[in-house]
Amino acid sequence: MTIKNICCIGAGYVGGPTMAVIAQKCPHIKVTVVDVNEHRINAWNSANVEDLPIYEPGLAEVVQEARGRNLFFSTNVDQAIDEAEMIFISVNTPTKTYGAGKGMAADLKYIELCARQIAKVAKSDKIVVEKSTLPVRTASAIKEILTNTGNGVRYQILSNPEFLAEGTAVADLFHPDRVLIGGDTTSDGQKAVQALVEIYANWVPTEKILTTNLWSSELSKLTANAFLAQRVSSINALSELCEKTGADVNEVAQAIGLDSRIGPKFLKASVGFGGSCFQKDILNLVYIAKSYGLEEVASYWEQVIIMNDHQKRRFAKNIISTLYNTVASKKIAFLGWAFKKDTNDTRESAAIYVADDLLNEQAAIAVYDPKVKVQQMYADLDYLESRTAVDNQKLLTAYPNPYDACQGAHAIAVLTEWDEFKSYDWQKIYEGMLKPAFVFDGRNVLDQKALEQIGFVYKAIGK
Ligand code: UDX
Ligand code: ADP
Repeated sequence: MTIKNICCIGAGYVGGPTMAVIAQKCPHIKVTVVDVNEHRINAWNSANVEDLPIYEPGLAEVVQEARGRNLFFSTNVDQAIDEAEMIFISVNTPTKTYGAGKGMAADLKYIELCARQIAKVAKSDKIVVEKSTLPVRTASAIKEILTNTGNGVRYQILSNPEFLAEGTAVADLFHPDRVLIGGDTTSDGQKAVQALVEIYANWVPTEKILTTNLWSSELSKLTANAFLAQRVSSINALSELCEKTGADVNEVAQAIGLDSRIGPKFLKASVGFGGSCFQKDILNLVYIAKSYGLEEVASYWEQVIIMNDHQKRRFAKNIISTLYNTVASKKIAFLGWAFKKDTNDTRESAAIYVADDLLNEQAAIAVYDPKVKVQQMYADLDYLESRTAVDNQKLLTAYPNPYDACQGAHAIAVLTEWDEFKSYDWQKIYEGMLKPAFVFDGRNVLDQKALEQIGFVYKAIGK
């Protein structure tokens, strides 16, 4: 079966970039990305590519090339479902905030709504592809909804988890380490798998396209994120020991990373991992293990989250104790709010939690982030419900440039590893601050020697 029409439900951080790249690489396939959020769709269609809803290096160029040719963004979900032979589901699956599994299980209500909508609209056979990260065996739930509420058309469900990382999404999509496609082992299932293999084969070498059964594919996604997050928590655990013993965590990371069995990646000690995936996926894994009665398995993985929470809290505590145990009314400048560099995404960013702890002590926080809008910062804090929205607005201010953010500050906290931080005039920043001036480098981005020369008290994670 050759696919001519693709529909993707969900125009977010996963659906948007993934479909833009498929459209660019496969000009013979019409790709329509739909979303219920009209504001988001309008932003994807904005004439000025600077106004796209998602910032990713290289994305604007890809969208510019394919949009209007074979890439379309629309709010007309039904029409796109009707026209497509293959439908990707890329809606969000946040951690549940209510009911059974609250705070752990993935909330599948958006997935179920999509399945019901497909069932209602479809008049011809469809291949439905799970793109969002889902708990194992979600495919069987989707299949049940589709076949029991549908119009008698046949469905094949595939799992094709996304491994792109934000900030490098376009490069990851162009040159993936692997593409994973899980499907039914029946002959119809295998035909559906091949239809998707054919799409990726337009630019991905076939030896990198891995096909498995559905459940292996679903579980592999959770496992990959759990392993990556575990490396970050492992090095972060050692960072605290480094601070006590005089070892330098960067040197330790380099020394162990040269062991080819360990490898150099994902060993950067930090103020803690953030993002929409790691915490959610591990909580999900823990919940699944618990639901099968596997208590040891559950608590083994839960420790990765406990370590990460500890690291964020420890960073805030260090700021407070260093500033003579009081930060009330003191200006503390935050460099960075995004959960990592090269993205405007702030979901689960460490900055939010560090800010929350400092605001509880009535600090005055001054943020500079090159890509995050101030409304997003307030929304992130309001979501925690620690304070009223009015108080958050009183206590936190965003600045359009770093020099103003740091002017008159007692301390600087580096929360994101944006490259531009390295090239600032640190002498000028130092001159504008109250003395003694402190830098708390949560990302190990600044050159310690230069900072020492201009008199900052410099504290970095794991040093
Ligand atoms: C992750 C996975 O990498 C990706 O494959 C999956 O599809 C989605 O989840 P993402 O969350 O976008 O991607 O970013 P990632 O680069 O994995 O970073 C996650 C967090 O870990 C960030 O806050 C980052 O700053 C932090 N991190 C990463 C560290 O603190 N140290 C490291 O060495 C690496
Ligand atoms: P991710 O990082 O997984 O891509 P996002 O939150 O960025 O998550 O994107 C998910 C998108 O899915 C949102 O823009 C949301 O409006 C959209 N969405 C959720 N449910 C539906 C639905 N039933 N139909 C269409 N779009 C949906």
